[in-house]
Amino acid sequence: MLTDMNKPHLLCIGHRGAMGHAPENTLASVQKALELGAPCMEVDVYYIDGRLVVFHDDRLERITNGSGYLCEQTFDYLRSLDAGDGQQIPTLEEVCVVIDSQACLNIELKGPDTAVPVAALLTKIIAGGWDKEKLLVSSFHHRELLEMRRLRPDIKLGALIRGLPVDDSKFAEDLGAFSVHPSLDCVNQRFVDDAHERNLKVYVFAVDHPEDMVKMQALGVDGVFTGFPERVLENYAQGNIENGW
Ligand code: G3P
Ligand code: MG
Repeated sequence: MLTDMNKPHLLCIGHRGAMGHAPENTLASVQKALELGAPCMEVDVYYIDGRLVVFHDDRLERITNGSGYLCEQTFDYLRSLDAGDGQQIPTLEEVCVVIDSQACLNIELKGPDTAVPVAALLTKIIAGGWDKEKLLVSSFHHRELLEMRRLRPDIKLGALIRGLPVDDSKFAEDLGAFSVHPSLDCVNQRFVDDAHERNLKVYVFAVDHPEDMVKMQALGVDGVFTGFPERVLENYAQGNIENGW
């Protein structure tokens, strides 16, 4: 059994809570990530019918017993659905209440026009005692990140990518991002080294297999999104994240 002293470092970020153990992006999943001791977790957010809801897909069928496009539904209909094991689709505010600053939170702006309402919620929870250093807002929609930076320049930004840009992480540096979040299938040594030279953290999604965790640590990646937080926690030190990301 390795002690933290002699484990290599790889930050554990629960993916959609702890989606390997509980229905993704539900309060049960968030609670499971906390129970497993994940120091950080990620959830996906859309703005629907005037509410920030935690959900991954643009349609309902894969995750719920409902049907249709998420953006065409009322909040009451979304709340009537089973998102797995009897769980409701939660609001972002409900997720924040459950986490209560006990873990770092990465809010992924999945849907359009999410930066403005998320910034408003962040202002509210920070006023209520959340440590803003424990918040990280990410998106594939880099214009949403620009809007977030305009609204809350003090909140850390993460730039998501599914393929390698021609200028590696220059775009993320230009955005004023704290971190870049490449997919597992595209990240390579040159990209990691370039990001680090720009003083950006590299957090890779989605890393569920222990062999991929070994590969990511060998590349010098800073952290991984995983549905199985215990697999990272067992083998990798987490460092001190009491003060945030
Ligand atoms: O934020 C990391 C990861 O969640 C991005 O991809 O599709 O799982 O939201 P996706
Ligand atoms: Mg996500």
